[in-house]
Amino acid sequence: MKILSIETSCDDTCISIFEVKGGITNASFKVLANNTNSQINIHIPYGGVFPALAKREHIRNLPIILEKILKEAELDKKKKSPVDLITVTYGPGLEPSLWTGIVFAKELAQKWKIPLMPVNHMEGHVFSIFGKGKKENKGKFKIKKLPTPTLALLVSGGHTQLVLMKKWMKYEIVGETVDDAVGEAFDKVARMLDLPYPGGPQISKLAEVERNSPHPSPLLAKERGKFILPRPMLYTKDFNFSYSGLKTAVLYLIRDLGGIEKISNKMKTQIALEFENAAIECLIHKTEKAIEKYKIKTLIVAGGVAANQHLRNEMKKVVSKQKIKLLFPAQELSGDNSIMIGIAGYLNYIKNKKKVPKLNNIKATGNLRL
Ligand code: KG4
Ligand code: ZN
Repeated sequence: MKILSIETSCDDTCISIFEVKGGITNASFKVLANNTNSQINIHIPYGGVFPALAKREHIRNLPIILEKILKEAELDKKKKSPVDLITVTYGPGLEPSLWTGIVFAKELAQKWKIPLMPVNHMEGHVFSIFGKGKKENKGKFKIKKLPTPTLALLVSGGHTQLVLMKKWMKYEIVGETVDDAVGEAFDKVARMLDLPYPGGPQISKLAEVERNSPHPSPLLAKERGKFILPRPMLYTKDFNFSYSGLKTAVLYLIRDLGGIEKISNKMKTQIALEFENAAIECLIHKTEKAIEKYKIKTLIVAGGVAANQHLRNEMKKVVSKQKIKLLFPAQELSGDNSIMIGIAGYLNYIKNKKKVPKLNNIKATGNLRL
């Protein structure tokens, strides 16, 4: 069957078309077309996503992208409807953004008289590890049932969660942030350092430069103690995280150094490195403890922050001495995309024996949980 998949939970407008067959543990996918329109340039002046603007851009982009990918997928034009199923993100995310995708999907489902499957964005991130872009492997990929118990560390701009799957497609949140998400902390610290939005990639670029720098400045080396940031909740017995205190610690550090105008580029890179080390250390430590407690066989690390190379390297070290399968999404599928929404949507459609909710019951749910 053919699927059209839509994702508009934040600031990316994404639509994909797939050819899919198989069951929930052996489905095979072929990406026929995939298009993402990033709104980053529009939100840069605001230093973050501006919801009303994001909504306006989605409404403008959706029909344009649809037309483009319908052409690209070369679907049978004689058929009443070009695809057999639509999948759309209904939460969590920014409600004005979510609604644009949902309204658009409902209109298409009505026009083409086909079912619409609502998808949880976080379940999408879990399944992003199976996906391939259109060019990679000709866009072909297969779903394989993973050895359980599986643990997923989901790290994005809105979430920092440890999700346990004792069984395939059954989720239990065993730990999460008690305040800010890790991606949000990256973005806010980047703003303090006068770096453009989104801050994650900017901070990690600077941190990488400092990490690989063979000659740290002697003056700064002497002052290094000043640059040590806290690792909040590192040794609490639960699997929760906290990023708001770390963010505030950076704010005070910059203030104590005389304000951002007084900070040299070298100091900036040192702060970026120390912040990244602190943020990632908390993720690594709690994940390691959860692996031990739940006797994990598969570890998934997904969401926008999973693009972070330091996180990837440190996680590889954690599993290197154990018999654990470690899975990351392809770099291009770490951030938001509609490929992961198509996978999660199809698997749920099959799991629910092709039953879908009534269109009127599909509503944007900003704080939806797994
Ligand atoms: O999953 P995602 O694209 O959107 C949400 O669902 O939130 O995640 C976006 C987040 C942003 O906070 C961004 O700064 C962060 O992922 N991010 C990174 C990196 N690339 C993106 N954080 C750290 N290091 C990166 N390389
Ligand atoms: Zn996301």
